[in-house]
Amino acid sequence: MDITVSDEIEAEFLELIQSILGDSEFKKLTMYRQHFGTTRLMHSLNVSYLSWLMASRFGWDTSVAARAGLLHDFCLYDFKEKLPKGTFQAFHHPKVAARTSGERFKLHEKERQAILSHMFPLGPLPQSKEAWLISLTDKVCAVTEACRLNIALARQDRVVITPA
Ligand SMILES: [Fe+2]
Ligand SMILES: [Fe+2]
Repeated sequence: MDITVSDEIEAEFLELIQSILGDSEFKKLTMYRQHFGTTRLMHSLNVSYLSWLMASRFGWDTSVAARAGLLHDFCLYDFKEKLPKGTFQAFHHPKVAARTSGERFKLHEKERQAILSHMFPLGPLPQSKEAWLISLTDKVCAVTEACRLNIALARQDRVVITPA
């Protein structure tokens, strides 16, 4: 699989996400559809980039915004899969994403918390400004993607993912 990134994308952002984006397990997110119109990998990149962009503007922690934004849906299963009775995907998948991210990467507590709270108000209250940002950009991206509109890095082919 090839990920082509246009020159327009800021080097500071790419540097923060490079080690995650190059990971073979993480790249598997491209196999899952998300919000009808995109893949989970592209959605995660969009959330990461918008969170990073806003954190940069506000002078907040850009690393947490970019990394937790990228990892917030790191779940290697189809969200349409049946869960055990009484378990709901909206509450379940952030826990899986936090666990998978922690197994694969060195995760800071602030990043873990932001992943766990990204579905707020379904789930825990975000504990940091960056966590609020990720929860908000996730919703913006989800709605836009569900309308099959390109947002953030999906716009004008700023990132193109070519399956192997
Ligand atoms: Fe999610
Ligand atoms: Fe998401």
